[in-house]
This record gives sequence, C-alpha cells and structure tokens, in this order.
Amino acid sequence: MHYRPLGKTGLSVSEIGYGTWGIGGSMWIGAEEDESVRALHRAIELGVNFIDTARGYGESERIVGRVIREHPGETVYVATKVPPKNGIWPAPKGLDPAETFPGDHIRASLETSLRASGLQAFDVLQFHVWSDEWVGRGDWLETIEDLKKEGKIRFFGVSINDYQPDSVLDLVRSGHLDTVQCIYNVFHQAPEEHLLPACAQHGVGVIVRVPLDEGALTGRITPGTTFPDGDFRNKYFAGDRKSQVKQHVDALAADLGIQTDQVAEIALRYVLSQDAASTVAVGMRTVPNVERNTAVGDGRGLSPEQQVIAARHRWEKNFYPS
Ligand SMILES: NC(=O)c1ccc[n+]([C@@H]2O[C@H](COP(=O)([O-])OP(=O)(O)OC[C@H]3O[C@@H](n4cnc5c(N)ncnc54)[C@H](OP(=O)(O)O)[C@@H]3O)[C@@H](O)[C@H]2O)c1
Repeated sequence: MHYRPLGKTGLSVSEIGYGTWGIGGSMWIGAEEDESVRALHRAIELGVNFIDTARGYGESERIVGRVIREHPGETVYVATKVPPKNGIWPAPKGLDPAETFPGDHIRASLETSLRASGLQAFDVLQFHVWSDEWVGRGDWLETIEDLKKEGKIRFFGVSINDYQPDSVLDLVRSGHLDTVQCIYNVFHQAPEEHLLPACAQHGVGVIVRVPLDEGALTGRITPGTTFPDGDFRNKYFAGDRKSQVKQHVDALAADLGIQTDQVAEIALRYVLSQDAASTVAVGMRTVPNVERNTAVGDGRGLSPEQQVIAARHRWEKNFYPS
C-alpha cells in the first residue's frame, strides 16, 4: 500500500481508504456485521489506515470503533461527520450557520460519536454539508478550535454537497480547513477544474468519495440488477438509469480495450492519477472487494493514454434523490 500526505496535517494516509456508509445498514441494506468486520480487519491488514464514517451512517461508528480496538498499537485514522442540525441535505442557499452547525450541536454530535465508537478522539471531524456563506459567521470555528485544544479532534474537514465542487473554495482559501471530502470519479470530473488545484495550493487534504459512482463504475449494474427493499440505490438507479449506466460503462471498457469487470480498477486509478487526491474512500462490505481494491493502492495511476481515454467519458449527472 502506498501512502500520501493528507494536505498539511502531517498524517500519511493510505491511497485506498475505507468508506463505511454501506456497512452501517441505514440507507444501504444487506450488510452483515460479521462480514463487515472481517472486511475492515482485512483492509487494515493490507495497509488501509484511513476510515471514513459519519454520525448518520447507522451502526457504522460502532462497528469501526470495535474493529479499531481490536488493532491495538496500529495507527488507523478515523474521520467522522456531524450532520447539520436542521437535517437538510444538501445545504440550500440562504441558511444561517446557527441553523446548521451551532457550536452546541457540533459538540453534542461529537460526544455521541465518541460514545458510539468507544474512541477517545477522532482524527478528522467533518461537517456533513457545507455552504461558503458560513465563512466568518457563527460560532462553529471557535467550537472546532476548542475541540482541537481539548484533544477530542485533531483536524477539521467538510464533506461538501454532492456535485458542487466549487461550493467550498472560500473556505479552502481561508486557511481554517484541513480536509475536503468530495465526489470525484471518471464520470464527475468537475473537481479537476478548481477544487483540486485550490486544495493543492492551500495544503488541504482531499478525501475522495463515491469513486465508483455508487457501484456504477464496477460493471455490475445492468438493467436486470435489483437492490433490497429500502436500499437507497433503488432511487439512485431508478427508471432507465441502469441502462444508461450500462451504456456508459460498456463504452468506457470498449474504448480502453478492457473487460467491464476491470472498470473498478481503472476508476480507482483514474482518481489516484491526481496528486491532489490524498485518499480514496471506497465503499466496501466484503473481503473480496477489499482485496481487489487495496491491490490498486500501489502508487501507479493510469497511463497517459488511458487517462486521455477515460477523460472522454465524463458524464456529469446527479442521480441522488433530494
Ligand atoms: N455526503 C457524504 O459525505 C458522503 C456521501 C456518499 C458517500 N460518502 C463516503 O464515501 C464512501 C464511498 O462511497 P460509496 O460507498 O457511497 O460508493 P462507491 O465507493 O462509489 O461504491 C460502492 C459500491 O461499489 C461496490 N464495489 C466496491 N469495490 C468493488 C469492486 N472492486 N468490484 C465491484 N464492486 C465494488 C461496493 O460493493 P459492496 O458494498 O458489496 O462491497 C458498493 O456497491 C462512503 O462509504 C462514505 O464513507 C460520503
């Protein structure tokens, strides 16, 4: 496993990180805790040292804390998230930070996350939505600085609204931010335009999320794919979207001269070809997926030819239900 600096935090994080939305059992249905625990253990054995979780991911913080405690002496960094107090995703324009991230809410959420995980502190605390209108307003920054001084968090990040990569540029430039978490993948290339260069310039670590477009970039979504009742992917891949995905993935694979089951590897390498990407938080619930994905963290991006081809397959869309 290769490691990269997480901005200017001083942390060195594995190229492949662990995304734990799916194992929490809230919006993804079907994870078995025993299998999730085995998968997390295997990931740590294979060098993964960065795990992304959130207060809003059902049982995820508890499971992550359990696994971390079973690796005493091993350095594994955990980033969690504070949900907005008003419960609105994504953050619409015009909100006062007192409605979303007042200090007492941040502190209460963090305390709940610490209790749920059994951890003494989190390496990164991220706001789960962001609007640049909040820079210089509210008491959130003071609270974050106090929590750092108290040793309950080491670094501060924001996980930005889906498909709004430019919505955090003022905060990136402010110097108050340690990490940004954003969607970035073969289809959604917009972060390359402003966000990734700004993060590189200001030493802000980049945690890439949804690198496989919720499974679209694995070749496993076809018109016949079904998901369990209550799983959010029933909406994400609703209507004719599974056919659209298959067409786009087949075209990508054909252009690259690969089989569709190699698309996941190419998708992860596409993200890792950007030096500004610190770690790629891949959603994984099984040992085989962990083994396949960790093998990609070998320090190699795409070849220049593959990069040119992949770049032609940009497909900006927003399938998230809102
Ligand atoms: N707003 C936010 O802050 C936000 C939103 C979304 C996600 N996130 C974070 O980002 C992480 C990653 O995003 P995500 O989990 O939603 O989606 P993702 O990483 O784009 O895709 C996950 C899907 O890909 C499948 N998969 C993984 N590796 C594979 C492989 N090698 N071959 C075939 N299939 C493979 C997984 O299957 P299995 O599950 O069966 O292993 C799962 O269905 C999340 O877990 C979470 O930590 C944050």
